[in-house]
Amino acid sequence: MLFLTLSQIGKRTAVAFSSNNMRVVASYSQSSALAASGGGGGRVSNAVQDKDVLAKTSADTSSQPKQPKVKMDTNPPKGTRDFYPEEMRLRTWLFDQWRSVAAGYGFSEYDAPVLESEALYTRKAGEEVTQQLYNFVDKGDRAVALRPEMTPSLARMVMAKKGGLPLPLKWFSIPQCWRYERMTRGRRREHFQWNMDVWGVAGEEADAELLSAMVTFFKKVGLTSEDVGIKVNSRMVIGEILTELGIPEEKFAATCVLVDKLEKVPLDAIQGDLEELGLDRSVVERLTGVLTVNSVEAIQEILGEESPAVQQIKKLISLCEGYGIEDWIIFDASVVRGLAYYTGVVFEAFDRKGVLRAIAGGGRYDKLLETFGGDPTPAAGFGFGDAVIVELLKDRDLLPSFEASGVDTVVFAMNEDLYKASLDVASKLRAAGQKVDLILEPKKTKWVMKHANRIGAKYCAIIGSQEFENGEVAIKNLEASEQESVKIAELEEWVSKQ
Ligand code: HAM
Repeated sequence: MLFLTLSQIGKRTAVAFSSNNMRVVASYSQSSALAASGGGGGRVSNAVQDKDVLAKTSADTSSQPKQPKVKMDTNPPKGTRDFYPEEMRLRTWLFDQWRSVAAGYGFSEYDAPVLESEALYTRKAGEEVTQQLYNFVDKGDRAVALRPEMTPSLARMVMAKKGGLPLPLKWFSIPQCWRYERMTRGRRREHFQWNMDVWGVAGEEADAELLSAMVTFFKKVGLTSEDVGIKVNSRMVIGEILTELGIPEEKFAATCVLVDKLEKVPLDAIQGDLEELGLDRSVVERLTGVLTVNSVEAIQEILGEESPAVQQIKKLISLCEGYGIEDWIIFDASVVRGLAYYTGVVFEAFDRKGVLRAIAGGGRYDKLLETFGGDPTPAAGFGFGDAVIVELLKDRDLLPSFEASGVDTVVFAMNEDLYKASLDVASKLRAAGQKVDLILEPKKTKWVMKHANRIGAKYCAIIGSQEFENGEVAIKNLEASEQESVKIAELEEWVSKQ
């Protein structure tokens, strides 16, 4: 028996996994309580709704009166996606763009399990992400969670090597992340997130390299600095103000998380959080006053020219000029980011039209390893989700078509006696590097042509009695509507000419 705990709503749903199939055995009242709480997402599967589902689906029902069939709910769980081949092609295309940019910047790919120990995410700064955990206790009584982000896993992996990894380290990954989110356009309960991280470089050179990689991706997919901007700031601005006001350093992370919330909710709504933190309104008002500033000159006027925060921001912007990406970069002191571990530079890519939510975000997190008990190691990186960027590319009409299957040639035998010959033809074409869709059952030529067109194949190789007797195959070029006879023994040569 496995217990799932949705921490946000504090309800428990029991799910039993039998060896041959999975059955939801949560009682109706449990699941409807979930739905009523709003936490279940408002959609309950037919299987869960049916109180007698266990009896109906149990092994021997021959002696019982016939029950109406229980139809399985074919929707994936709310907030998650199926990837039918066309959508999968889009996903692969996007990942290919990410991988190619990462390779261009000399980053190496890594991965980690989607299931992590829950302790990896128990940070106490009041972050949304830790309240959105998909967490449960496994059969061995271990508190585990589906990863909501990759950064803690990366830190764990770096720490596991006990300083044995050659620094600087430039790694990337495309993990699927899980968050029990309120669904909006571009925000769902699972998403893939391109992560690019640099460990072991304390200077803004690393942050600027990351920003440049992000811009390279945007340009690669056809976006310009008129479509997308990247707001940059440094959390050191908040740090300096807190020091000036005599607020102890241990309140830094939680204050940043709270200030980030202020972007979305009025001050009164988080009065409780404020009191818990021991910050009075005047501190928050002073912070918000500074954070509405959006020019480097203005922040310099407040903090002074010698301020490390100002120096850091200036250096970052100057490095961005060096990369020629200054058109994309906007200094904005209101960007704080909602994750507790950032310590310095923070940044967020946004849609200039202001329609979509944040496209990507990241920053410097020099103290994360220390919070895990490791040695201090500077680090910076970003996470870039798949959902918002696809929406943006759709809006700007920048997505290629993913209708075509990628098949080069459809091969089919006109009668069953020739089926073995079609295997030979398909094997030869495949050996020559073609992607071949072999027709596995007897079909009419008309059906095959329609099928070949539907999947966007370039050729159709037809094995008919006459051609076969001559050791040939008829190859139809579907784009040019031309047909030629090619010797089966010379198929490799034919492929090399295409
Ligand atoms: P984050 O801002 O929480 O940062 O997420 C980064 C990006 O992931 C977002 O800008 C968005 O594109 C995408 N994203 C996040 N949540 C969702 C969601 N529910 N649905 C769809 N997309 C989503 C982090 O996760 C940091 N760990 C990033 C990082 C890496 N910082 C340093 N290294």
